[in-house]
Amino acid sequence: MLSMSLAQPFLAMEQELNQAHLERPDVIRSLLVALLARQHVVLLGPPGTGKSRLVRDVCERIVGHFFEWQLTRMSTPEELFGPISLQGLQQDHYRRIATGKLPDADIAYLDEIFKASSAILNTLLAAMNERIFYNDGQAVPMPLSMLVGASNELPEDREELGALWDRFLIRHVVDYVKDPASFAALLQLSAHPAPGTTITVAELQAAQQAVETVDVSPVLPLFSHLRAELAKHGVIASDRRWRLSVSVVQAQAWLNGHTVADANDLTILQHVLWEEPDQRLAIAKAVLTLISPFDQEAQDILDDAKDAYLKALATPEDEDRNMAGLAANKSLQAAAKLLSVVVKKAQDAGRPSQRAQEGLTQLQAWGDEILKQCLKITF
Ligand SMILES: Nc1ncnc2c1ncn2[C@@H]1O[C@H](COP(=O)(O)OP(=O)(O)O)[C@@H](O)[C@H]1O
Ligand SMILES: [Mg+2]
Repeated sequence: MLSMSLAQPFLAMEQELNQAHLERPDVIRSLLVALLARQHVVLLGPPGTGKSRLVRDVCERIVGHFFEWQLTRMSTPEELFGPISLQGLQQDHYRRIATGKLPDADIAYLDEIFKASSAILNTLLAAMNERIFYNDGQAVPMPLSMLVGASNELPEDREELGALWDRFLIRHVVDYVKDPASFAALLQLSAHPAPGTTITVAELQAAQQAVETVDVSPVLPLFSHLRAELAKHGVIASDRRWRLSVSVVQAQAWLNGHTVADANDLTILQHVLWEEPDQRLAIAKAVLTLISPFDQEAQDILDDAKDAYLKALATPEDEDRNMAGLAANKSLQAAAKLLSVVVKKAQDAGRPSQRAQEGLTQLQAWGDEILKQCLKITF
């Protein structure tokens, strides 16, 4: 029996983070999953998309050692791994004083990660892969649960940085908020949010151990299907990534309250299996279709409806915003009809689609917003 009390603080934390960070539910879930599966996450996106703030908000809630650094091309190993001990040198030892640096950290955040120079790279790769820091010839184990890297862009030089890119099992592209309603909420976020739920390192470790016991055997065939499906799209993930992806599915299952993983727990793989950003859509579709064709159908309808909604809101006041609002309203109503059909089909097939059901509520909210913003109808 899964101990829900163990997962509860993580879910509370997730809720708090979602309140403070707009349009980031998947990234937030991924950060928690990575923490629980002891994996690493990379966030790609322009400056000012709240990447640093989000990672700090996660770390603030884990009572442990947090190491944050912004890399430059000139960064030296001292900055990450500590200065060489002078005392050691006098005795012919080349030992670093790593206290308070990356080798000491439970969680690390490295900004501008792909600026890492070759002087840093090998030590960093060993740290991420094996959680071992070689200090003066001695292999020192590192407590590191998760390293988060952030960058403006993908590494240009894959020759040199490909190995580092590969170490990030979970990858996200983040962008500025899209929905005007989230934008309005962004402007009104409290500058001093209440202190959140905290989790001790011991609690985190207990949770990590529980995650390892989640049974994935029923979904293993789905991994094989997915691999074959992605190969059709020319997307090939390394065997290493597939192997590690089991751990993030376990963590996702655990957060979803499952002791035995089910198909829905595989959704996290959308953020694992891509190499190039232009593969993301195909992968998301393949994953969702495999897990639930009805969810995928619902998603397609919602994507179209969202386009119509955003287009209307983007129409300037003087350019017949009224007409745009009416058109969007019509699209949203048509989408609601289609979605109701999906809800019914899924129910009849004995596979209720949560996405379709949630989608109906979403369409209603968009419709209300259009009435208010474009048609000036308040209620
Ligand atoms: N999606 C978002 N939700 C909430 N706050 C955001 C979001 N995007 C940006 N911000 C705000 O912008 C500020 C600066 O973001 P920052 O974390 O420094 O961005 P980055 O590290 O991506 O350059 C944050 O402190 C936060 O207040
Ligand atoms: Mg930043």
